[in-house]
Amino acid sequence: AVAERVFSGVQPTGNLHLGNYLGAIKRFVELQNSHECIYCVVDLHAITVWQDPEELKRHTREVTAAFIACGIDPKAHIVFNQSQVSGHAELAWIFNCVARMGWLNRMTQFKEKAGKDRENVSVGLFAYPTLMAADILLYRATHVPVGEDQKQHLELTRDIAQKFNTDFAPSIAAYGHGEGYFPLTEPLIAGPATRVMSLRDGAKKMSKSDASDFSRINLTDDADAIAGKVRKAKTDPEPLPSEEEGLKGRPEAENLVGIYAALSDSSKAQVLKDFGGGQFSAFKAALVDLAVAKLGPIGADMQRLMNDVSAIDAILADGAARARALADQTIRDVKDIVGM
Ligand code: ADP
Ligand code: NA
Repeated sequence: AVAERVFSGVQPTGNLHLGNYLGAIKRFVELQNSHECIYCVVDLHAITVWQDPEELKRHTREVTAAFIACGIDPKAHIVFNQSQVSGHAELAWIFNCVARMGWLNRMTQFKEKAGKDRENVSVGLFAYPTLMAADILLYRATHVPVGEDQKQHLELTRDIAQKFNTDFAPSIAAYGHGEGYFPLTEPLIAGPATRVMSLRDGAKKMSKSDASDFSRINLTDDADAIAGKVRKAKTDPEPLPSEEEGLKGRPEAENLVGIYAALSDSSKAQVLKDFGGGQFSAFKAALVDLAVAKLGPIGADMQRLMNDVSAIDAILADGAARARALADQTIRDVKDIVGM
């Protein structure tokens, strides 16, 4: 049997934070034990909104450094930068001609990101999901770890794979590619504890783009910065409950307990067993210690890696060469199938 293959990407848009770690990169690390993994710094996605060219380069290296500092092994798996493998853009164009306008019009993330200014956003922002489908299907990935926010895009990826397989069924068969050329990629959905919310507002997710630096813990924050942000994190006047039930309607408390649980590979229930009934100040002190212990080494490693630009670029060049070998085969097959 063919190994199960995972593909996922992170945009090089700066400010990598605890949410990116717990919701994405930590899981990428774990999947290395069970899957063949391809992890991509998706700069073609990033430029769907304006990026300063120098910042984009710096952020591409920053995400690469984060992948490696968090424990992704670029030799055993593949770590690379999307724009270095031309197959992503090529396959995305073909998928633009497979996907239907109606499908893309239903994408809720576009509606959120475009807001009221729909006439003035890039065409790329609208077509973003077809590029994501190309990223995944270029490697015929069987599984994609996704957050809730990306579920709809993965369904679109499956719709595109299905329509391609159906539209071109005779030539797929004639070229000896069996029933369907593209797999119907399955999501690996993370548990609820992995949605990390802003430290300033329990109703908003922790985000790279939040204007307040106190809303997120960045992966490059040092111990003092982490301590300051956790101490200032919004809470409520009640003590911590001893059972999960008691977190209902207390989003800020629930978020901090969830972060503690995720960082300690434990559960909210267990965290509340240990800290329930106590004051927030004691719990926050323990959370600071835990966060510093887990993130401190990652931040230090990221800084060290980012200081060696040529080493990072060499890792990306090696990853791109190995990704390209897989991608080129798919592009050759697809051109054959489509009649090019
Ligand atoms: P952001 O949403 O901050 O702009 P990205 O869109 O580049 O970051 O997301 C990179 C990865 O991190 C995605 O898999 C996304 O689901 C995950 N992620 C982003 N923010 C959070 C969060 N607050 N909690 C959990 N996972 C998150
Ligand atoms: Na996101």
